[in-house]
Amino acid sequence: MSLLILSHREVEESKGDEAYEGLNEDIIVAQGIIFFAAGYETTSSTLSTLCFNLASNPEVQQRLVEEIRSVMDGHDGKITLDNIGEMVYLEAAVNENLRMWPPAISLSRTCRKDCEVIAKGQLAGGLTELYPRFPQIARGLVIKRGMRVDMPIYASHYHEDFFENPEQFQPERFLKGNAEAIFPYTYRPFGGDLHTQLVKYMHYN
Ligand code: HEM
Repeated sequence: MSLLILSHREVEESKGDEAYEGLNEDIIVAQGIIFFAAGYETTSSTLSTLCFNLASNPEVQQRLVEEIRSVMDGHDGKITLDNIGEMVYLEAAVNENLRMWPPAISLSRTCRKDCEVIAKGQLAGGLTELYPRFPQIARGLVIKRGMRVDMPIYASHYHEDFFENPEQFQPERFLKGNAEAIFPYTYRPFGGDLHTQLVKYMHYN
């Protein structure tokens, strides 16, 4: 928000300067609205659905309570930004909840230049070897400039090839030892491209 306020000042100072190519007032307001919509709705729906999932799965809730108590016991009964990282089951439960109830169900992008998603040959061969259940990725997929590509999140999170028993709330999928087997980009509650690295920074900081 502070960056947007600084930009607003820049816009004010540049009034009358026709060569100014920076942000305009409409763009700044739109960004501010996105911050509120993207930040609040996603967080509140995640907390609501997590409460629902825990209430429906008391054994998961019990394990979570025990983990939280045990971490707090080791830190004078406090939860801090540092010790919350020790709550690995909590993180797995939030991840699993975002699999079942992703606030964004699909993303779209417009292709800026012709491209092939997975190159044929060595890379694809290597991937097929690594993930023998998905031979189709070796074929390559050509996308032409100007084409809009919709990338389903919800459908992927419920695809049985990617997540066994997708209707079941199983945080264990995201614990060390299991999480490594998740096929890349099938789990994308925050999206999953380079642009998302910036978004991730905003989400976790
Ligand atoms: C459970 C919580 C959240 C989820 C699941 C979530 C998910 C997403 C997704 C899927 C996108 C689109 C990414 C893309 O286009 O590739 C996004 C964008 C964004 N998110 Fe979140 N988000 C969450 C929380 C937040 C919070 C707390 C903030 C702000 C503090 C935030 C700020 C943003 C912004 C500003 C964008 C747009 C970035 C851009 O397109 O320039 N999000 N989020």
